[in-house]
Amino acid sequence: MSTVIDGKALAEALRSRMKQAVSELQAEHDIVPGLAVVLVGENPASQIYVKSKARQTVEIGMQSFEHRLPESTSEDDLVQLIEELNHKPQVNGILVQLPLPAQINSERIINTINVNKDVDGFHVENTGRLSIGSDSLIPCTPAGCLILLKQTIDDLTGKNAVIVGRSNIVGKPIAQLLLKEHCTVTIAHSRTRDLPSVCRQADILIAAVGVPEMVKGDWVKPGATVIDVGINRITDSSGKNKLVGDVHYASASQVTGAITPVPGGVGPMTIACLLQNTIIATCRQRRVKLPEVTT
Ligand code: GUN
Repeated sequence: MSTVIDGKALAEALRSRMKQAVSELQAEHDIVPGLAVVLVGENPASQIYVKSKARQTVEIGMQSFEHRLPESTSEDDLVQLIEELNHKPQVNGILVQLPLPAQINSERIINTINVNKDVDGFHVENTGRLSIGSDSLIPCTPAGCLILLKQTIDDLTGKNAVIVGRSNIVGKPIAQLLLKEHCTVTIAHSRTRDLPSVCRQADILIAAVGVPEMVKGDWVKPGATVIDVGINRITDSSGKNKLVGDVHYASASQVTGAITPVPGGVGPMTIACLLQNTIIATCRQRRVKLPEVTT
């Protein structure tokens, strides 16, 4: 029987520790961490994510600053807003929801964010720091995946990890984190030859491609741990809308040792890790010790 990795419960536990950290920061240092979330345009999925991020920020006692800008916003206007947020002392974390409209260069925007407030960990300096193994703000979805893996596997050392997907925000940073944990890491992608047989080598298989149910049960080594990062909205054969991952859960869960469900796996961990990053960023900016519950 495969274990179902309960991301919802683990995220709830992490959030409750972050709530305690916020209350300690307030009681001992009179500090209330603040997170600014910027949404440009009307992308329906982004609207849901941003709302959820703002709600959970407030729920653990932090300050939330929401900025919703029209689809037609110019790159220069967005840069100006970020520069204002960079200089606001009440704002300790800045997140610009991706994707951005086509007229805006995402790379310029991400690198305008003050590196110490870059709670997404997407700034080129944080990316570089992660790749050389020094202290950085770590992207939230990869950080969430690592927590789920550590809960499931006692020692990651020497495990074969295959990551399907090479994005800057998920695939590449997960690879860096797993290298740091002494895994042997393969990054596979759409041009990888014989992808099923590459996946079958994996003790740890991470699917982050954005293709609904692409990874089938016969791609999975018996007993492997499978982490499904995908969140895809599809219409099933009976005409009902549902969320599925990048893994074909019904067939894969017959083979896996442990697997994350969709929904309820990686998704909830991402926002919990964002709250954690905001607290870490706040403590670094204010030069106070990170409350122990945060680590
Ligand atoms: N869009 C999809 N995932 C993310 C994320 O983790 N951060 C941001 N800023 N945008 C996203």
